[in-house]
Amino acid sequence: MSTAGPTSVTRVAIVYYSGTGNIHKLATAAAEAAEKAGAQARLRRVPEYVNESLAPEFTEWTEAWSENAEAMKDVPTAGIDDLDWADVVLLGAPGRFGLIAAPLKHFIDLAWPLNARRGLANKVMSSFTSTGAPHGGQEATILSLNNVFYHWGAIIVPPGITDDIQTAPSNGNPYGVSSVSGRQAIPGRLAENVTEDNLAAIAYQTRRMVEIATALRQGFAMTSLE
Ligand SMILES: Cc1cc2nc3c(=O)[nH]c(=O)nc-3n(C[C@H](O)[C@H](O)[C@H](O)COP(=O)(O)O)c2cc1C
Repeated sequence: MSTAGPTSVTRVAIVYYSGTGNIHKLATAAAEAAEKAGAQARLRRVPEYVNESLAPEFTEWTEAWSENAEAMKDVPTAGIDDLDWADVVLLGAPGRFGLIAAPLKHFIDLAWPLNARRGLANKVMSSFTSTGAPHGGQEATILSLNNVFYHWGAIIVPPGITDDIQTAPSNGNPYGVSSVSGRQAIPGRLAENVTEDNLAAIAYQTRRMVEIATALRQGFAMTSLE
């Protein structure tokens, strides 16, 4: 984490993978919230790792997946230098069979050299997810991401139930904001089940991370910790 100088702003990297747009929508809202909170934000997507649909026979899913690829094409792809740059790292990925989607895991593995030189220590981190079903593995997905943060020596700042927005009916996951997309990815109506309350919650989670990171940076400036 960089220490706070008189003019330096807190730097937030939002790194995500999204197949059919739900995570993309949440990540975009997080980036807007970070900027609104006075931070500098980098919105970065992890690219798809297959050239063709995972399941071409699921035509609606495949169409939605292609539509989302088009919608995300102008978002820069994530590099490990984005993690190095950031004071705050917010990772997002859909749950797939109760685990994070593989492209984001691949990206995480590339952080090995940065972690080896302790380049991720003391950064403020948390994560968010989207699943098809409310009990389809949101906590498992979030906690697998948070396990990575333990290994990196990051400071995990979850949303908890520290704001009323977390008690809205479509929210409530204290480990990290989570949305429920339903069973279908619907072409032309991408991510329509990401609710306004989900968007407000990810904005809150991001704001909370920025505030805590900014306070920590000022504190670290007075100690030998960086
Ligand atoms: C291969 C695969 C596995 C999935 N596994 C789960 C699962 O275990 N639980 C669940 O609730 N949803 C599961 N889903 C649904 C996605 O988590 C859900 O559609 C999510 O909202 C997608 O986010 P995205 O639009 O950002 O890609 C799976 C989807 C795919 C393609």
